Amino acid sequence: MIALRVLIASTRPGRLGLPVAEWATERAAAHGAYQVEVLDLAAIALPFLDEPNHPRLRQYTKPHTKRWSATIDAAEAFVFVVPEYNFGMNAPLKNAIDYLHSEWHYKPVGFVSYGGISAGTRGVQMTKQVITSLKMVPLFEAVQIPFVRQFMGEDGAFHPNEELETGMVAMLAELEKVALALRPLRE
Ligand SMILES: Cc1cc2nc3c(=O)[nH]c(=O)nc-3n(C[C@H](O)[C@H](O)[C@H](O)COP(=O)(O)O)c2cc1C
Repeated sequence: MIALRVLIASTRPGRLGLPVAEWATERAAAHGAYQVEVLDLAAIALPFLDEPNHPRLRQYTKPHTKRWSATIDAAEAFVFVVPEYNFGMNAPLKNAIDYLHSEWHYKPVGFVSYGGISAGTRGVQMTKQVITSLKMVPLFEAVQIPFVRQFMGEDGAFHPNEELETGMVAMLAELEKVALALRPLRE
């Protein structure tokens, strides 16, 4: 099994990222190759980076950093569920990434992005630039949700169309391949 973590980037009260991530988590669990856990940045509640040392030194001084380091160490692959804020990534995601260094190395990322007309893709592009500096491997295959509100039901759940379901299957299949191929580099 591959230790997959679904990371919810939005911390906003009332965030649509939560129902989108619930769908992603369910599909990832149904895929069969993954041991899935959710990393909710709202619940993890990291303060703005407050460590004195560069994370490559791993000389962490704060309990929240040590916890976050162990959490990311245990992951082999990620699905990042990301909004687009002002044509870019949201700040809590950047902050959570900046906390660590080698914990991220050689781990693939499949994106599930959402927003207005751009489906969150400008946020994804910015995130890709950032994570490659940490030797993460972003996938081409992705789930891009335009005008995300159109898929929100009165029940508060996310109701994707067939294209989004197909995109999710393709992304999870590619993520499995890349996660397994990168295993020797992570060892
Ligand atoms: C601060 C802020 C900036 C936003 N900027 C964008 C944007 O640049 N492009 C876009 O498509 N949507 C933008 N939106 C709308 C979001 O796509 C929409 O509110 C979405 O639900 C945000 O994700 P969340 O609900 O998970 O926090 C923005 C929303 C917020 C709160």
